[in-house]
Amino acid sequence: MSLDKLTRALGDMFNPKPRYITVTPVTDKSAEPVLPPPQALPRHVAIIMDGNGRWATGRGLPRSAGHAAGTEALREIIRASDDWGIGALSLYAFSTENWSRSKEEVGALMGLLLKYFTSEIDELDEKNVRITILGDVDGMPEPQRDALVRAMQRTAKNTGLRLNIALNYGGRAELTRAARLLAQAVRDGEIEPEDIDEDAFAARLYTAGLPDVDLLIRTSGEMRTSNFLPWQLTYAEMVFDDCLWPDFDRTRYMKCLSVYAGRDRRFGGVKGQMPSTDTPDKEDAT
Ligand code: FPP
Repeated sequence: MSLDKLTRALGDMFNPKPRYITVTPVTDKSAEPVLPPPQALPRHVAIIMDGNGRWATGRGLPRSAGHAAGTEALREIIRASDDWGIGALSLYAFSTENWSRSKEEVGALMGLLLKYFTSEIDELDEKNVRITILGDVDGMPEPQRDALVRAMQRTAKNTGLRLNIALNYGGRAELTRAARLLAQAVRDGEIEPEDIDEDAFAARLYTAGLPDVDLLIRTSGEMRTSNFLPWQLTYAEMVFDDCLWPDFDRTRYMKCLSVYAGRDRRFGGVKGQMPSTDTPDKEDAT
């Protein structure tokens, strides 16, 4: 063995490469994607649609133009999810923190929202899509609130894609709300404190009845979860795409799904190993 090879081998031994890559940036250089087979698709996809503002400013346009372009991308991704048989899609459209943006930008977003729910509802209903709003709908301006409630009511019995749109949403606020609902249920004598387990907690979240998120996608190169679905993302695979949200399309979405399909999900266990019959004091979950 040459000295060079020996040095590399020793280097690998003492500084092993990470065996599990949990974060994969998707770049333009990735190979052409293929849609994974149905059994390898995530049941629940969540997307943080980031980069509308930068997309617009980069073109010398007002930020509202970025949100308008982002709405086109959103329409396409909802259609793709429906075409490909994704069970549930959760989109982060407006956080509780977004109210702090300028009056013009908030106004533009509210306008787009109203327009979207008016123009798309027929197609979504026809496609058997069930719409759920994640977040504090009561805190939305009246015209938007009415449109959202109507959309939820109209599609409540649909059995196709579960489309969740997070509006006036904050993850910590969702957890706090669930804790409050549980406390009320105890106070009203409906349950005992001992009945509070993970299922009881999950049943009080906006996503009650849905599986946890399998795949989180965030565009624009930012790598954080920004108070989005903290409970539901616990074991989600994360894929970060460099492109700005208005540039996100079916091809990029498919790439993210391929990256997901290639991941080794172990949920804290070890592949191929039977679960132990002993109950450990603490779970070593990674
Ligand atoms: C984040 O980009 C995006 C938002 C806060 C809004 C997302 C809204 C839409 C995609 C369209 C409207 C939604 C519906 C349901 C019709 P950013 O503005 O923070 O981008 P930046 O980080 O580049 O500033």
